[in-house]
Formats: sequence, structure tokens, C-alpha cells
Amino acid sequence: MAGMRCRKCHAPAVINMRHHKLALCAEHYLEWFVAQTQRAIEKYHMFGPEHRVLVAVSGGKDSLTLWDVLLQLGYQADGLYIDLGIDGGFGYSKISREKVLAFHAQHPDRQLHIVDVRETYGESVPEVARRTRRGRGKPCSVCGLIKRHIMNRVAREGGYYALATGHNLDDEAAVLFQNVLHWQTGYLARQAPVLEEGEGLARKVKPLCRFYEREVAAYALLRGIDYIYEECPYSVGAKTIYYKELLNQLELKSPGAKHQFYLQFLEARKRGRITFTEDREAAELHPCERCGQPTTAPGLCAFCRLWEGREKTPQPLVATSESVE
Ligand code: AMP
Ligand code: FES
Ligand code: ZN
Ligand code: ZN
Repeated sequence: MAGMRCRKCHAPAVINMRHHKLALCAEHYLEWFVAQTQRAIEKYHMFGPEHRVLVAVSGGKDSLTLWDVLLQLGYQADGLYIDLGIDGGFGYSKISREKVLAFHAQHPDRQLHIVDVRETYGESVPEVARRTRRGRGKPCSVCGLIKRHIMNRVAREGGYYALATGHNLDDEAAVLFQNVLHWQTGYLARQAPVLEEGEGLARKVKPLCRFYEREVAAYALLRGIDYIYEECPYSVGAKTIYYKELLNQLELKSPGAKHQFYLQFLEARKRGRITFTEDREAAELHPCERCGQPTTAPGLCAFCRLWEGREKTPQPLVATSESVE
């Protein structure tokens, strides 16, 4: 960064974004980041100021940044933290929960929903993973299933217009790369900044999907957002991390490559240059007999099957009185 100057005010720059040919000082970078988020929200018609939005916050930099930016932009954004009960020898879930609570303490006018998986359903994520075949010793698949179910449930029970997650460009490019390598046409059809509401499914949006991970990290740092640095202990060796590393090598040789890869995919698909049909089973979705969320399985969905024979009486996850306007 030596010698680089902010394009707007000529003060020393704190960040240089080669793909945008743009160097900025701290003040103008924060301003740019917030404005770019607003542009993405408008471009993809994510939500408006009249809508209530539920931000899924993990305690990491991406989702806390997202919540912070949405609040700065004046959106009606509440938080949802899912306590997965993961320890990993250092209290992963406990620390992330503390980070979320500390952030929320600065925004007492907004609501934070906390769903503790063990308290709500009887077992933590690692415990379910150990007991069930789907877990096979690694909780990630079970964890993803549980998180998706709870996010949907809270978004719908709370009457939210959209569920927002902190996925950034590095996340989206890695998933796209993985899906292309395996020609997962069903996933490619659906990978998008906005997923429309479906029968029993909340509308899903990813307002940070055009930012590199380092841009989000720079925002969090400059705003003094206190987040958990540690990754989930089970993410070690995950496939997406491998794809992220490959894309980082590409980016090093050819700055902007990730940005192009993801955004030109979205453009080409939008213009009908590439078309994918959704998986055939998508047409055969029906509501789960127990929870009502859509499933291809007959009877119970994969989430409800995790708890078969040990179900507790379902409790509402959202405290209805104060939360719904
Ligand atoms: P990940 O799948 O861990 O990369 O997380 C993707 C996004 O899901 C994050 O940016 C959050 O918006 C959301 N998320 C992940 N973990 C949690 C959690 N424990 N509670 C609430 N939201 C979460
Ligand atoms: Fe779910 Fe790691 S297993 S966050
Ligand atoms: Zn400046
Ligand atoms: Zn179900």
C-alpha cells in the first residue's frame, strides 16, 4: 500500500482493490462499502426499507458486518443466532454467542433471536451427528441441515420478509467452482444472490456476495467489530476450503478472476446464455408431515428424521408478542 492515495481525498489509502482499480482511505472505504451493499440490495431487488429482515449471525466477521451495514442503512434488521453446542476444545459456540450478544448490546432497539439446539431439540449438533448415520462422525452435513431448518422456521414464524446470510464472494465463487467441476446443474440453477420464497421456505438473500472476503474483513476491522476469529473446528479439511485455496492461487496470478468468474456467471445466466433446469425432484416437493417444510422424502423431512423417536413437543421459536409488529 506504500505511497497509495485515496482516490476521493488523497489521504493515505488503507486498501487497494485492484479489480476495481480503486484505493481508498478508511473513511471513504467504509462509505464505499455501505453504498456498494445498498447497490447490491437494489440491483437484485432483495428487500426495501418497509420490510423486516432476519440476519443470520454466526459471530463471524461476515454476518456481523452484514448486520452492521444493514443497520447503518436504516433497514429493519433483526438477528438470529443458532447455538450449535460445538466446543472444539475452546468453546467455539460459546465464544461466538458472546460476540453476537456484545454486538447486539450496542443495538438494543433491534431484536436478537437465540435458538439453542440442545435446549430446543434435546441434543447439540455434535451429539446428533454421533448418534445418526447422516453424521458419520463429522457433524457438518447434520449441522447444515439443522441450521437451514431453524433459519427457515424463525424467518417464517417471525413473519420476516427475507432471511439474510453473510456469504461473500469467496464463498460464492468456491461453491460455484465446486458445482461447475461436478456439473451440478440443479445447484447451478439455484445459486443466486436471491432465492425467492417457496412453499414453506423463506426468501433468502446474500447482500455481501459481491465483496471479497478481505474487503469484508477490512470493513469489520475498520469499524471495530469484535468477531470470532476461529473457524468452526470441524471445518478443517472441508472441500470448500480446498476450492477457496485453488481460487486464491488463480486470483494471485490474475487479480479480479474470482469476481469475474462469479459475476459473469450471474450475468450469462440472466441473459439466458446458459440455462439449467432444476433437478427433476424439485417438482416433487411436498410439505413434511411434522414440520411443514418442503421435502422430497415421503412423510418426514431429513431434519425431522434426525429426531425420530425422541421428539420433544415443538415449542414456538419466536416470542410472538414483541417481535411481530
Ligand atoms: P457458513 O455456512 O458457516 O459459511 O455460514 C454462512 C452464513 O450462515 C453466515 O454468514 C451466517 O449468515 C449464517 N450462519 C452460519 N452459522 C450460523 C449460526 N450458528 N447462527 C446463525 N447464522 C449462522
Ligand atoms: Fe456446523 Fe461447523 S459443523 S459450523
Ligand atoms: Zn479518502
Ligand atoms: Zn420436517
